[in-house]
Amino acid sequence: DWVMGDYIAEAVAKIQAQVGTEEVILGLSGGVDSSVAAALIHRAIGDQLTCVFVDHGLLRLNEGDMVMDMFVGKLHAKVIRVDAADQFLGHLAGVSDPEAKRKIIGREFVEVFKSEAGKLTASGASKNGAKWLAQGTIYPDVIESGGGKGKKAVTIKSHHNVGGLPEQLGLKLLEPLRELFKDEVRELGEALGLPHDMVYRHPFPGPGLGVRILGEVKKEYTDLLRQADAIFIAELHNFKDAETGKTWYELTSQAFAVFLPVKSVGVMGDGRTYDYVVALRAVQTSDFMTADWAELPYALLKKVSSRIINEVRGINRVTYDVSSKPPATIEWE
Ligand code: XMP
Repeated sequence: DWVMGDYIAEAVAKIQAQVGTEEVILGLSGGVDSSVAAALIHRAIGDQLTCVFVDHGLLRLNEGDMVMDMFVGKLHAKVIRVDAADQFLGHLAGVSDPEAKRKIIGREFVEVFKSEAGKLTASGASKNGAKWLAQGTIYPDVIESGGGKGKKAVTIKSHHNVGGLPEQLGLKLLEPLRELFKDEVRELGEALGLPHDMVYRHPFPGPGLGVRILGEVKKEYTDLLRQADAIFIAELHNFKDAETGKTWYELTSQAFAVFLPVKSVGVMGDGRTYDYVVALRAVQTSDFMTADWAELPYALLKKVSSRIINEVRGINRVTYDVSSKPPATIEWE
C-alpha cells in the first residue's frame, strides 16, 4: 500500500544519505530482522552492501540454501557464505553444559564474522574497504538492552547483534530498523519482496540446533534432528484448524524438535531396534516470557510421529512435551 511505499522511499533516502558511496557489511542469519534489514539496505545501495552468512552447522534443513536462493538468486545481493560447520563442531566436541555451549558458539561466531569482515574492510579488498556495519536491531531490542531485564534478555540478542563489534572493527553502525516493532518489520519485509513464509517464520535461537541437542553436540545428531524437525514443521504447515482456517504453524508461536541422546527399544519389521528419541515442542505465547504448550490435534501428532519414525533412520520414538513456561522453559537447554 502507499503508506508502506512512502515509508520505504523515506528509509531508502535516509540510508543513501547516511552511507553515501561507502560500503556496508551485514551479518545475515536467515532470521526475520537481519533479512529485512538486508533487503532494505540492498534496495537503497545495491552492491555497496555485502552480507556475510555464517553457517555454523547448527541450522535447520536447507536453511543455508534457502537464504542463498533468496538473497543471491532473487534479490541479486552480494552474500559471502561461510561454511564453518567443522570449526564449530570441533570446538563443541566433548562439551555438554548448555551455557558453555552457548559461549563457544557465540565466541566462534564473532571470530568467523570478524575474520570475514576484516577481509572486506582491508583496503584493496573492495573499492575503498567497508566503513559500515549494519545490524537488524529493532525497537524492542533497543528497549531490552537499555532496560537491563536480566541475563536472558541480554543473552538472547547477543549472538547476532553483537555489542562492541563495530568499535572492534572500526566501523560505523547502520541500524535502519531501530524504530520498528516486529509486526512493522514483517510488513516492511513483505513490501520489499521477501516471501511471506520467511517474514512470518517462528523465532530461531542464535545457537540454533546447538541448544536443541541435549548435552554434547555431534554431527550425527544434527543430521537426525534436522530431518525430524523439518517433518514436524512441514506437517504444522499442512494441518489447518477447521474453525479459524489457519495452519497449525500460524497457530503456534514456536515449534521444533529436540534431540534426546538416549536410546530406547522398538520393533521394525522382524527386527528389534535400539535408537534415539526426539521430543516435539510447540508453544503459544505472546511475549515468550510465559508460554502454554499447544494443544495440537492428535491427527497431526500421529502423522508427525509416524513420518519421523518411518523416514528418519536412527529415531524410533517420538514424544510430545506438555510442559508450560514457567516452570519449564521453551527450549530444553
Ligand atoms: P526460553 O527457553 O528461555 O526461550 O523459554 C525464550 C525465547 O528465547 C529464545 N532463546 C534464545 N535465543 N539465543 C537466542 O538467540 C539463545 O541463547 C536463546 N535461548 C533461548 C527461545 O528460542 C525462545 O524464543
